Amino acid sequence: MVLFIILKKIGLVIMKRLNIDLGERSYDILIGRDILSKVGEFISNQLEVSRSIIITHPSVRKLFGEKIESGLTLAGYSPSFIEIPEGETSKSLQQVELVYDRLLEMKCDRKSLLIALGGGVVGDLTGFIAATYQRGIPFIQVPTTLLSQVDSSVGGKTAVNHPRGKNMIGAFYQPKLVLIDLDTLTTLPRKELRAGLAEVIKYGIIADAALFDFLEKNTEKILSLNSDCLEYIIETSCTIKAQVVEKDERESRHRMILNFGHTFSHSIETLTNYTEYLHGEALSIGMIQAARLSVETKLCHKDVPLRIINLLKKFRLPVQAPDLKSKDIVESMHNDKKNSHNKLRFILAKAIGLVEIADDVPEATIKAVLNKNK
Ligand SMILES: NC(=O)c1ccc[n+]([C@@H]2O[C@H](COP(=O)([O-])OP(=O)(O)OC[C@H]3O[C@@H](n4cnc5c(N)ncnc54)[C@H](O)[C@@H]3O)[C@@H](O)[C@H]2O)c1
Repeated sequence: MVLFIILKKIGLVIMKRLNIDLGERSYDILIGRDILSKVGEFISNQLEVSRSIIITHPSVRKLFGEKIESGLTLAGYSPSFIEIPEGETSKSLQQVELVYDRLLEMKCDRKSLLIALGGGVVGDLTGFIAATYQRGIPFIQVPTTLLSQVDSSVGGKTAVNHPRGKNMIGAFYQPKLVLIDLDTLTTLPRKELRAGLAEVIKYGIIADAALFDFLEKNTEKILSLNSDCLEYIIETSCTIKAQVVEKDERESRHRMILNFGHTFSHSIETLTNYTEYLHGEALSIGMIQAARLSVETKLCHKDVPLRIINLLKKFRLPVQAPDLKSKDIVESMHNDKKNSHNKLRFILAKAIGLVEIADDVPEATIKAVLNKNK
């Protein structure tokens, strides 16, 4: 068994440790409370580091900067901060260059450690910079949104956007450590929390019917940030992601199951110029469309999309597709980098907890699903 969970006590901190086994690129994912103040300890236990640089947004620095800084200083590192503007537009080559400039000014070397403190935007950007600065320097992820805690901080996909497409320039580059502090979720806007929950629902659909049941039964507790519930869903999501990545780190095939709903949602995001939906909100609609396509291709019973819609509604996620032309959606799907040889690829549900990869869904079937459910 490549994955194991143990309870560990460090001072007063009780946490869960998952290990993601990727040979020499293996690392731990630590999940618990009050972890930010202990980041220095974790680093000194595991890494040899000349200096540390925290990359974050000004607003996230205001919330957590002091806590992480004081812990790092206590452990003998005096961190520097590099602040980047909020939002998806920061995932750009221009922003990368600005950060390279700062790292060079600070004379950062190959033993300098980058610390990504924030959501997926900070994590993806920092990871890409770490992968490329001086041919690769170490970085750790300290994710502070639910989406980044259950998804983007784990698995080593790093990227920036190109004007012609999202995440088009990037690298597979694993962090040295992922530190998930559940306390950070208390300040997260509700809309962002719900968007992260869409990814958790996705894990239930692709691999874990018990997680899906749990989400159905504990919706209100989760939305009110019940500790035990949050810990369970984050741990379970990270475990599923770790298992998938261990099997297929560079997405030659199996890892594609993590993209359930994404072929639809990426088109929705692109065609609405990334302004109408958060990623998780577009995913909510995309998962419904993927489930309906699974019914249309006779892979699953019509109860499957109904159950998914009910759960998404309970979490107050959008379930109504925007008014877009099916022709435009299919055209946009063809630009997705997840396709190969001009064939559209979909992850389809056989049941809650079980999916398969389909490479040969006829365009007419996709359009039929899109037109039926406007
Ligand atoms: N690498 C991967 O495998 C992967 C997977 C999924 C998504 N992504 C990427 O992740 C990005 C989206 O990430 P996201 O949803 O975390 O969005 P985000 O990083 O933009 O964060 C959302 C907002 O929440 C704020 N914020 C962060 N933590 C907070 C906290 N604890 N309290 C209050 N506010 C807080 C941020 O400042 C930001 O305004 C996209 O760019 C997407 O492409 C990457």
